[in-house]
Amino acid sequence: AAPVQYQAESATISNGLVESNHAGFTGSGFVNYDNEVGSSVEFTVDAGTAGPATLTFRFANGQTANRPMDISVNGSVVASQLSFPSTGAWTSWTTKSTTVTLNAGSNKIRTVATTVNGGPNLDRIDVDAQSGTPDTAA
Ligand code: GCU
Repeated sequence: AAPVQYQAESATISNGLVESNHAGFTGSGFVNYDNEVGSSVEFTVDAGTAGPATLTFRFANGQTANRPMDISVNGSVVASQLSFPSTGAWTSWTTKSTTVTLNAGSNKIRTVATTVNGGPNLDRIDVDAQSGTPDTAA
């Protein structure tokens, strides 16, 4: 199935702000995580069938330090401290991918900052379920 895009500004944000002051984002903005451990964005993602899916995070990190986040699916951490390294500028956006297993139907994908710097600026995630019936946006 083709990847489905989920904009961070449309997700559930805990301790972060939707902003649009750094060019290059898609949709209407991006999420600026608060600079603290535990700031998070949670996406509700629908998969046609159970199985592997590639999650691609589009982000920017204008500082030099890595901004790792724990990635959980339906409450279980599946990628611990996934790295979101410096992109050199807040206007330089790049992607990071990881493969997870989704349930058929609705899934909660949560991204949680694990350092006092908070997460990177997050534009969106693309979900590619790799097999099965086409995904649909939630
Ligand atoms: C700056 C930048 C924000 C970014 C923040 C941070 O304030 O403008 O977009 O989120 O730094 O360090 O997290």
